[in-house]
Order: sequence, then C-alpha cells, then structure tokens
Amino acid sequence: MYKVLVSDNIAQKGIDILKEAGMEVDFKPGQSREEFLETIAEYDGIIVRSMTLLDAEALNKAKKLKVIGRAGTGYDNIDLDEATKHGIFVFNTPTGNTISAVEHTMGMMLSLSRNIPQANQALHNDIWDRKKYMGVEVKGKTLGIIGLGRIGSRVAKRAQSFGMKVIANDPYLAPQKAEKLNVPLLPFKEVLEKADYVTLHTPLTDETYHILSHKEFAIMKKSARVINCARGQNIDTKALAEALENDKITGAAIDVHEEEPVKASNNPLLKFQDRVIMTCHLGGTTTEAMDNVSITAAEEVVSVLQSNLPESP
Ligand code: MLT
Repeated sequence: MYKVLVSDNIAQKGIDILKEAGMEVDFKPGQSREEFLETIAEYDGIIVRSMTLLDAEALNKAKKLKVIGRAGTGYDNIDLDEATKHGIFVFNTPTGNTISAVEHTMGMMLSLSRNIPQANQALHNDIWDRKKYMGVEVKGKTLGIIGLGRIGSRVAKRAQSFGMKVIANDPYLAPQKAEKLNVPLLPFKEVLEKADYVTLHTPLTDETYHILSHKEFAIMKKSARVINCARGQNIDTKALAEALENDKITGAAIDVHEEEPVKASNNPLLKFQDRVIMTCHLGGTTTEAMDNVSITAAEEVVSVLQSNLPESP
C-alpha cells in the first residue's frame, strides 16, 4: 500500500480520491518543519500547496518519495533540480485556481479604491465616518499589468469591462496575444510610470524576485496603488513600506507575503492600516478552486503511483 502525505490544506474530495484508490493518507497541514523532516522518509507521494518547503534538505531525506503533486500554480516551494536528481516526478495543477486568483485581484483593487475593509472594520467598532473613507473610481484609470499570462490576461478583460485603460509588460508574451486583448505591451519602466494601479501576475523566478523595490516605487505616480496576488517575494516588502511612509505611492493590496504566515514581528506593512489591505494568501482559496486543484492533484498522484514507476535511484 502506498503512503501519501498531504501537508497543506486541500479539499476533502482530493483526500477521498486517494483513499478510494487504496492509498494510506496522512493529512497534516500545519505540522512543524521538524516533524515533517522526521517523517518524510515514510511517504511514496506528497501533495502540497504553497506552505510546505520541499528543498534539498527535505528531498534528501525522502527516501521512498516517487511523486510530488503541487495543488496550485508554480514550483517555487519545490527544488526541482534536487527532485529530478532523486528521480521524483513533480507536477502542478496550474489552471484550477486561475479564476479565483483573478477574482481576488479584482476584489483587492476595488477594496483598495473604496476603503471597504477599513470602513467595515470601523463600523464594527461603532464608528460611522463617510468622509474618512472617501474612495476613487477605477473607471478611466490606467491599470498596469506585469505578467499578461493566464491570470493577468483575465484580469485585463475584467478591468476593461470596468472602463479601465489597461497596459502591460510581459517579455515572454507573443505580441499578437496582447493585440487580441487590446492591451499595449510597453517596457517595464513605462508601465510603472503610467499606471494608476500596478498589479503583479508573474511567477517567482530570479528575474522577478523583488521586481518592485526602491527604484521601481520611486518612478511610480504618487497616487499609484499596488496589488500583489502572485508571489510575496516579487515585492521588496521593506521598500514598499518605505515608499508608503515617504508618500511615494498611495496604497497597496497584498495577498501574498515574503514571510508567511504574516506576524506583526515580520511585516512592516501592518502598521499602514488605512492604506494597505492585506489578506492571508487567499487568491486560490475558494471552494471551486480548492476542489479543482485537489481533485487533479490526487488523481495524478494515484496515476503516477499506480503506474509503477521505477524506484528512485
Ligand atoms: C498557487 O500558487 O496556486 C497558490 O498560491 C497555492 C495556494 O493557495 O497555496
């Protein structure tokens, strides 16, 4: 019998699929790194989202591991070279939470524009202040999208339907695709200079690590608002805090963080209650997205394990 560890939260439907296929399943989201490293050698398969780090240290201990399923997009928490060295098959489920991430981005942009979370919080504290929570419309504003791929292109369409002018930077996109979306592709710097809103939709790579830092905030409009529902490390958090402190930009809506979980001790953005909206990596956290990625990840793990791939070297 194969043993599978599910080390981040996934939907019950995925766990049911594993069990119905005869797998022994340990569902342990939130376990400590120590416990994870102590027990990883027991497993033939692992399903993770973004919280579990499968680095060289972990993979060297994973003596039986044959497959890693990433329930979500990207591989930034998995050392792919090391996994390959050990003959471990790694896959992700990139499409299952696209719409949820897109919709969360739109929600963050509108919340940021209309101070919805702050006004809600105030009202729950018995404070009625219509003047303080004066907002701005997004219609007629310029949205700069960094990364016009699966998520970015869908954000573009929705923003256009709100009457926004959309511009983008994406060095990897075929110009015809951008043309079809009616989105001009511009140099990175120009997007930052022109945008009223800048939203990131890039994977985390060496190229995109801290893609927004001091230099970039310095060239944005003072009225600019930044949205990040992609990867926390794409923004230099300290530089963002300084940009807000020095009024180089107006606000930010941040779903993903350099250090997760966010605590007062590790995040300087928490002090900007009126100008920064923060959510706890919720972009892909909807019933629909969780079902999609969990079902696909579980089916794939079963299929890999049952196909009797050769043992890891
Ligand atoms: C993703 O990359 O698909 C998400 O960030 C995964 C998650 O929600 O943990």
